[in-house]
Amino acid sequence: MEKLLDTGKVKSIGVSNFSIKTLEVLLPQCTIIPATNQVELHPCLPQFGLKEYCDSKGILLTAYSPFGQGNPLFFKDPDFIAVAENHKATVAQVAVSWAVQRGTVPIPKSANVERMKANITLIKLKPEEMQTINDIHKKPGMHRSLLAYHASDGTFFDWTYEQLGWPMSVGGFVTA
Ligand SMILES: NC(=O)c1ccc[n+]([C@@H]2O[C@H](COP(=O)([O-])OP(=O)(O)OC[C@H]3O[C@@H](n4cnc5c(N)ncnc54)[C@H](OP(=O)(O)O)[C@@H]3O)[C@@H](O)[C@H]2O)c1
Repeated sequence: MEKLLDTGKVKSIGVSNFSIKTLEVLLPQCTIIPATNQVELHPCLPQFGLKEYCDSKGILLTAYSPFGQGNPLFFKDPDFIAVAENHKATVAQVAVSWAVQRGTVPIPKSANVERMKANITLIKLKPEEMQTINDIHKKPGMHRSLLAYHASDGTFFDWTYEQLGWPMSVGGFVTA
């Protein structure tokens, strides 16, 4: 990937699904620090440790599945809904605004044009509202992946969470 930069065909290179553990293996072998690390990131998986680590290395954290792929777990959390109601906003707008405001780059998906427009209309969250959202993952059962394609034995495309260095428990997904 580093050689691709010399061709002029790509402007920057990054990685995906890297943890602190796997970045520690990768970075000593790099001559170019990855521009970004794209990982699952939303209020149930806020990735605080990885964010701090990536900040210290100059790696921008990209938040994939910022709506938890539509999983209602945090969208239905009463504290999360209260923040949205305070701003007369949707829960999706709160999720995107929270991600942007903490310096990550959310990449939400929608197949619906009206939702696309609404989803990128940001609101300004107060520090105490940021804290409320930061704390949602601390509630029982809330700190978890929301991706439907995790295997129930705690593997992800045959990799164990331990191998990947991912901070989540076995069976760490919730079906909608
Ligand atoms: N690097 C990786 O390994 C990786 C893994 C997963 C995903 N990604 C990337 O992450 C991006 C988005 O992730 P994702 O599609 O997995 O999940 P997501 O953006 O968290 O969720 C998409 C789901 O949320 C729904 N949605 C959109 N707006 C909504 C709203 N306002 N209210 C309620 N539901 C809403 C969508 O339905 P509608 O379409 O009906 O609006 C869709 O079902 C994609 O670009 C994907 O390629 C990367």
